[in-house]
Amino acid sequence: MNTTYYIGVDLGTSAVKLLLVDGQGAILNSVTREYPLIFPQPGWSEQDPAEWWRASTEGIRALLSGFDASKVAGIGCGGQMHGLVALDAADNIIRPAILWNDGRTGEEVDYLNNVIGKEKLSSLTANIAFAGFTAPKLLWMKKNEPELFGRIAKIMLPKDYVNYRLTGVHACDYSDASGILLLDVKNRRWSREMLDICSVREEQLPRLFESYDVIGEVLPDVAAQLGLPAHVKVIAGAGDNAAAAVGTGTVTDGACNISLGTSGTIFIASDRFGVDPHNALHAFAHASGGWHLMGVVLSAASCNKWFCDEILRTKEYAAEQQPITDEKLGRNSVFFLPYLMGERSPINDIDARGTFIGLSMDTSRADMVQAVLEGVAFAIRDSFEVAKALGINIKASKLCGGGGKSPLWRKIMANVLGIRIEVPSAEEGPGYGGAMLAMVGCGAYASVQDCAAALVSTASVVEPDPEITVRYEAQYRKFSKIYPALKAVFPQIR
Ligand code: XUL
Repeated sequence: MNTTYYIGVDLGTSAVKLLLVDGQGAILNSVTREYPLIFPQPGWSEQDPAEWWRASTEGIRALLSGFDASKVAGIGCGGQMHGLVALDAADNIIRPAILWNDGRTGEEVDYLNNVIGKEKLSSLTANIAFAGFTAPKLLWMKKNEPELFGRIAKIMLPKDYVNYRLTGVHACDYSDASGILLLDVKNRRWSREMLDICSVREEQLPRLFESYDVIGEVLPDVAAQLGLPAHVKVIAGAGDNAAAAVGTGTVTDGACNISLGTSGTIFIASDRFGVDPHNALHAFAHASGGWHLMGVVLSAASCNKWFCDEILRTKEYAAEQQPITDEKLGRNSVFFLPYLMGERSPINDIDARGTFIGLSMDTSRADMVQAVLEGVAFAIRDSFEVAKALGINIKASKLCGGGGKSPLWRKIMANVLGIRIEVPSAEEGPGYGGAMLAMVGCGAYASVQDCAAALVSTASVVEPDPEITVRYEAQYRKFSKIYPALKAVFPQIR
């Protein structure tokens, strides 16, 4: 009987979620600790890295309470991607982290994509610039906060800051590093040319690792503080989407995972490096050792949370969805553009905003709730269509993230995309993936694929319904007309 324990960490945008997992993959305990999100200006989004550390350490202590902590062998973290954590020469935090859903870098994105040029960026990094990526944020700091920029000794991503506090090692894995826009994704090394373009020196960047590599051990004083034994290994971990893909077993060529978290993503794993010629989908390294293509909707489950919490003033999400029966699916005359924080894939528009359209005197509260869920599904379909145009034939997808817990949203996803949706037994994508990567790093499995084959299973399946799918085809065609009609209006109403 293997009695080793692993800690999987999902360093999210609203909270850190921690899992205690045993060597057979059973989740023994889970703990969530929230932290605040700061919106200093409309479209800006920041967080204090010290809060991540506070919440993670409090969380680890709570997670271990009542368990034999001496059995913990490894820790693996999947983290919100792209956030700029800037440390000075003494490793102090220089300013609040600028997050993945921050849209302040319009000018810098324009400079990178149009002055340096998309072709050059794509040839150096396999990607073009998007507002949330880290490199445009560095250029923004250089221009707007030159004194702070001059003090940067280390550039890190969110989970790398937590790993640094655990181990004292400045490390980053290839999946997360891909979203900085300084990585030569194909060759898994920093791009010297991109470093020059962004005025970054290589010594300011963390050391690169595969996601399942061990970067170090928990420092003795930190271990004592957390109640951990000596020699707990910390692995490099992954960006949350790559970690979620590991957690849902999306590690073989062509496999797909959809995440309905704060953001919504469609993630297609690949054994070979490949780039979307239009760069609408990101081409990033995978935590399994391969690569992936990914489309990102900036606001997904967060749209439903916003509409229920802020507008309807309720936390009863399931009750709000209860009146939305099968007959109503594909028949809503209300549409919603989910662009509450602008949009990434495929439109790359920081000015776009959330929009309800098609309201009339007989519109009900439930119609609007339905429009929100459908709007997110249609936005994911936009990236799905890009993948289709590249010849990628997706027949089924895993589904994870908070939104994936809603049976209605699962059904809407299956029918809007016309594919089978598979819900894995462990829905805690990034945290479970983090624990799995730690198992591989600690030698319990030879590869991420072996670990996934042994531990990941499907709990339930939603097949698309032929009639509802036909109705949603027509609805999607209508949805596709709304953003192009409003595109020019958004910058004028900022
Ligand atoms: C991915 C992205 C988001 C964040 C959310 O490119 O920006 O999915 O990783 O945490």
